[in-house]
Amino acid sequence: MQVTKTVEATRSLVKQWKREGKTIGLVPTMGFLHEGHASLIRKCREENDIVVVSDFVNPTQFGPNEDLEAYPRDFERDCALCEKMGADLIFNPQPEEMYQDPCAYVSIHTLSDTLCGKTRPIHFKGVCTVVSKLFHIAAPDKAYFGQKDAQQLAIIRKMVRDLNFDVEIVGCPIVREADGLAKSSRNTYLNDEERKAALCLSRAVKRGQEVIRTGCESEAVLKEMRAVIEAEPLARVDYVSVVDALTMQPVERVEKDVLVAMAVYIGVIIGCIAQYTVMP
Ligand code: PAJ
Repeated sequence: MQVTKTVEATRSLVKQWKREGKTIGLVPTMGFLHEGHASLIRKCREENDIVVVSDFVNPTQFGPNEDLEAYPRDFERDCALCEKMGADLIFNPQPEEMYQDPCAYVSIHTLSDTLCGKTRPIHFKGVCTVVSKLFHIAAPDKAYFGQKDAQQLAIIRKMVRDLNFDVEIVGCPIVREADGLAKSSRNTYLNDEERKAALCLSRAVKRGQEVIRTGCESEAVLKEMRAVIEAEPLARVDYVSVVDALTMQPVERVEKDVLVAMAVYIGVIIGCIAQYTVMP
């Protein structure tokens, strides 16, 4: 497995692989890799000749009061995991390599104004910008994203369609801990008590699914899910919303594929979780 730190070095490897007729899969990450990331790398390994993992804590997607400095990092451990998973390349640039007084950004409206975009107004602009750059640098045939960040996945799909990126976006299922909490690099922030409290998110998702199964008004689902969260003293709801799975706009009635998404503060942390719920 190779490690690159510069755009130029990455490009020259990618060009060589392309000349050899190899297909390239890309897994964009912010590092501190866990089983969730591993599942993306595994799928990427199955479907491509070359597996590129990017490992970059992208500053432009963090707001001024967010956790850019505190975001967990362990590049050596990431390398070991990627090696074990059979990756061919980790691209691990420093922020200065990726951004030199940038004037050009990629942003996407409507889809990014709802849900997580409400409390994190610049977040998806940063995500779209860095993902566009990674697509230009690694020129992947396929790129892999988790359904855990369902709004991010929907936004990337739309960006790729709107801007004619020549890449296939592959969505991958959520990987959870044994007790139901979605695996996340940010789970390391939670102390034991908060970790236990965070389980109210997966309980609420489960309850939401039970209510939705029969088709209903969105408000009925939201009421039940809010009740589950509110029963947990350490949790405070930022939002719970039922939205169309493609447009991210709120829907009044659950009749087709919807996304039930929520963000909850546990202590100072926003836990953001989302779940596709498909009607029978
Ligand atoms: P990061 O949070 O590191 O996640 C990288 C990818 O792993 C994302 O596509 C995310 O949805 C997926 N992922 C994380 N936890 C998962 C889980 N428990 N199950 C399945 N997939 C999971 O998302 C980002 O980084 C950044 O915004 C990025 C796209 C890299 C742009 O900077």
